[in-house]
Amino acid sequence: MNTNRLSKTMQASLIKQMTKENQASQIYLALGIWADSQGYGGVSNFLFRHAQEERNHMIKIMMYILERGGTPMVEAVEAPKQLPKNMTECFNLVLQHEIDNTNAIYGLVNQSMDEKDWATWNFAQWFVKEQIEEEKLALELIDKLKIAGGDRATDESLFALDKFLGDAPDEVTLARTSTADNPE
Ligand code: FEO
Repeated sequence: MNTNRLSKTMQASLIKQMTKENQASQIYLALGIWADSQGYGGVSNFLFRHAQEERNHMIKIMMYILERGGTPMVEAVEAPKQLPKNMTECFNLVLQHEIDNTNAIYGLVNQSMDEKDWATWNFAQWFVKEQIEEEKLALELIDKLKIAGGDRATDESLFALDKFLGDAPDEVTLARTSTADNPE
């Protein structure tokens, strides 16, 4: 009896997404190393924590494949190629990676609908919500840097931003929890 509740194609796509999350983890590590080498310990701490979060995403998908009777696979990832030249570029790269990942998650959702695999559709919804949070977090980084002066930010304002990010929470509040009394 076939005990794998995932189709071959769905299992392959989920493994691909595991690799993408693992790749994202490596990219955040590389960006964190870059930030630290520039003297931004707070930014690098934030990025290292984020690298760990991406690894957790990979594990979540790995466990889901196992739970459905499938066989996950750990694939090779490429060395991160693109390093930023400045903080604006660094935060733009973060947003770009998150948008790419959102598109990959939407691909999984589309495929689960096509295959009428409602278990995977349901599982993927966690990632849809997670991506709203991750994109919001990346947009907030860009906004904060703009307020600090962008590429022309003074050392003082970058120092303050670096300190802020070192202590910043990894979670953000989403619009769905906002109220008129508390429009976060
Ligand atoms: Fe796992 Fe940043 O998405």
